[in-house]
Amino acid sequence: MMNNQDLRQFAPACARNSEPILAVLNDHLPKDQKINVLEIAAGTGEHAVFFASNFPHAKWQPTEFNQEAHKSIQAWIDHSQVSNILPPIGLDVCQHPWPINKVDVVLAINMIHISDWSCTEGLMKGAGNHLSSDGLLYLYGPYKREGKHTAESNVDFNSWLKERNPKWGIRDMEEVISEAAKHGLEHQKTEEMPANNFSMVFKKLS
Ligand SMILES: C[S@@+](CC[C@H](N)C(=O)[O-])C[C@H]1O[C@@H](n2cnc3c(N)ncnc32)[C@H](O)[C@@H]1O
Repeated sequence: MMNNQDLRQFAPACARNSEPILAVLNDHLPKDQKINVLEIAAGTGEHAVFFASNFPHAKWQPTEFNQEAHKSIQAWIDHSQVSNILPPIGLDVCQHPWPINKVDVVLAINMIHISDWSCTEGLMKGAGNHLSSDGLLYLYGPYKREGKHTAESNVDFNSWLKERNPKWGIRDMEEVISEAAKHGLEHQKTEEMPANNFSMVFKKLS
């Protein structure tokens, strides 16, 4: 039976943060070179089609831990007709090895604070294992700096997260950087983003 239902989900945050994130990616990702990009926690799939369409030389692999979300990601791919994006695959950052070969870029947007700390450890381990030499890990989300929230709104957001799951929460940037270093991922840059978020870029050492 034909399914004419539009299965695309919409996350308001994606509409707000896509352009600012693209501006940072433009500074760090090669525009005219074939690269393999692995997107962790692709969520609705909106980011995947938006970024893949802006990096036509990239082969974009969206992944999502929640199998139910694959329907929306696939619907976004089908609707956009962007050709350099692969069907979504399941990926739990804590399960190693990840079901992929080497990649040039790993992206994880808004995952670290909405998952257990063990997921950050798993993310760093997986990125360290699967990134090629000089490959990049890009993170986006809210962080604490030297143990302190960077805005009052993040204090409230942190409480909201902890009510949902006591193991979730806004992480210390310095702890994330030190976890990355354990897996050969060198911190390159932290950039302030709108709405008290940050971009963080790491490079896989040779
Ligand atoms: C707030 S959503 C972010 C989705 C998307 N990146 C965005 O910005 O809209 C948090 C994401 O963390 C993912 N996540 C939670 N635990 C995970 C795990 N163990 N492995 C991979 N992803 C996980 C969820 O599946 C979900 O996609």
